[in-house]
Amino acid sequence: MGNETATATAAANKADTGLARALAWIGSGPKRLLIGGRWVEAASGKTFEVINPSTEELLCHVAEANSADIDAAVAAARHAFDNSSWVGMSPHARTRALLRIADQIDRHADELAAIETLDNGMPLWFSTAVATTAADIFRYYGGWCTKILGSTIPSDASGFVYTLREPLGVCGQIIPWNVPILMASIKLANALCCGNTLILKPAELACLTSLRLAELIQETDLPPGVINMLPGFGATAGAALALHPDVDKIAFTGSTAIGKQIVQASTSNLKKVTLELGGKSPNVIFADADLDKAVQAAVKTFCGNSGQVCSAGTRLFVHESVHDEVSERVTRLAATYTVGDPLAPDTKLGPLISAKQRDRVLSYIEAGQAGGASLQLGGSQWSGRGYFVAPAVFDGVTNGMRIAQEEIFGPVLSIIPFRDEDDAVFKGNDTTYGLSAAVWTRDVARAHKVARALKAGRVWINTYGEADPAMPFGGYKQSGWGREFGQESIDAYTQVKAVMLRM
Ligand code: NAI
Ligand code: MG
Repeated sequence: MGNETATATAAANKADTGLARALAWIGSGPKRLLIGGRWVEAASGKTFEVINPSTEELLCHVAEANSADIDAAVAAARHAFDNSSWVGMSPHARTRALLRIADQIDRHADELAAIETLDNGMPLWFSTAVATTAADIFRYYGGWCTKILGSTIPSDASGFVYTLREPLGVCGQIIPWNVPILMASIKLANALCCGNTLILKPAELACLTSLRLAELIQETDLPPGVINMLPGFGATAGAALALHPDVDKIAFTGSTAIGKQIVQASTSNLKKVTLELGGKSPNVIFADADLDKAVQAAVKTFCGNSGQVCSAGTRLFVHESVHDEVSERVTRLAATYTVGDPLAPDTKLGPLISAKQRDRVLSYIEAGQAGGASLQLGGSQWSGRGYFVAPAVFDGVTNGMRIAQEEIFGPVLSIIPFRDEDDAVFKGNDTTYGLSAAVWTRDVARAHKVARALKAGRVWINTYGEADPAMPFGGYKQSGWGREFGQESIDAYTQVKAVMLRM
C-alpha cells in the first residue's frame, strides 16, 4: 500500500515535470521553420495560431510556411541528399543515428506527451503511451538499416546480375493532426532508415510535437538539410510540396478527398506516392465470441482518441441472436467513459481537435437521427469551453445510411445486425474504404475464413486496434496506396536498381 502510494506520487511528479517543461517550451516564443539545419521565420513573415482544444485558448504562434519556404526546404534536402555524409553513410552508423533519436524521445517522453495533450487534446495517459511507441518506431527502423538487401539473380557463367535497393531521394511528407507524434515518427524513421532526406509538413491543427521532435533530432547531429520541418496550411504549403518538381516521393496521411488531390499534383513529375487515408472499419461479433472482451474492445475502439483514428471500428456488426444484448452492453459501457480534461488521469475522451471537427461530428449525429437510426446514447451538446463530444451510439442502422458509409472521425458508433457469415462479410465489405477490420469468434476456422474474406489492409481476430511497428498497415480500396510499417515500408522508401556485369 505504502509502496503503491509512493509509486503513484512519483508518477504524478514525473507527469508534472513533463507538463512544466511542455509549458515552458510552448511559452518560450514563436516557433519557426527548420530549413537546411537552421530555424527561420517564414519568408512571408506570417504566423498562425495554435489553440488548445480543451480550453480554446491560444498556446503560441507558429511560422506559416508557403511555397517559397517549401522551395528553400526542397533545395536544402536536395543538397543534403547529393552532398552530405548521410547517403553514403555506413548502415551501422545510420542505425546508431536512429537509436540516438529513439533515446532522445525516451528522455523527453513526458514533455512530448504533455505538448501533444495541450495541442491535440488527447488524454495524457494516451499521449504518454504514444510517445513510447514513437521511440519504438525509431528503434525498429534503426534495426532495418543493416538489413536492406538486394538480391543476386541467376545468370549464365560469364554474367553477374544483382539488385541494389537505393533511397528515393527527397521525400515530402504530409501528416494529419490526430496522432501527430506517431505520424511524424513513422514518416521520419522510414525515410531516414533508407537514406533519404525529407521535408515534413505537420498539420496546421496540431504541429507542436513535430517541431519539438525536430529540435530533439537536431541535437543528435544529423547533417543539415536531412530533416526539414515546415508547418503550414494544406492548400499552400502542402499543395506546394505535392506539386514540387524536385520532390521524388510524397507520403500522405489524411482524408481520402485530399489524397486524391495529392495524386493529381504528383503527376507534375510522376513522383512516387503512398497514401494512408480514411476508414469505416467493420468490427464483426459472432454469437460464440467472448462477449465481455468484444464489448470492451468495441467501446474502446470507437471512443479512443475521441474517435479521431483512421482505423477505428466505427461499424459494429453483431449477430442477430446477440444483437440486443451487445447493443445494450456497449451503450451502458460507453456511458461510463469520462469526457473532460485530458490532463486528468481518469479521462477517457478529451476534446475533438477543433470547433469545425466538433460541428462536423454533431452534424453526423443529426444525420443519423434524421436517417431513421436509433440514438441509444449521446448527442447532447457540451455547454462549457472546449470542443468536447460525448460518445454516441446508434443502433437500428442499415449499411446504406450516411453514418454507416462516411468517415465521421468522432466518437460515433453504428451497430448493424447480421444473419450469418456471408451476410457479415458482404456488409463488412460494402464500403468504399478498406483500412481495418476485426472478427470476434471462438471458431478458429471461421475466424480465418472471415479474416480472408474481409477486404481490409489489417484484420484483427479477437482483439481490436493493437499495433506493432513490424506489422504493415495500409488500405485496400480508397483507404490508400502502399503500406507503412514492417518491411513493406522499406520497399516504399527505396527503389530497385538491377545491375548486369559481363565478365
Ligand atoms: P486533411 O486531409 O485536410 O488534412 C490532413 C493533412 O493534409 C494536413 O496536414 C493538411 O494541412 C494537409 N492538406 C490539406 N489540404 C491539402 C492539399 N490540398 N495539398 C496537400 N496537403 C493538404 O484533413 P482535415 O480537413 O484536417 O480533416 C477532415 C476529415 O478528414 C476528418 O474529419 C477525417 O474524416 C479525415 N481525416 C482522416 C485522417 C486519417 O488518418 N484517416 C486524418 C485527418 C483527417
Ligand atoms: Mg491545436
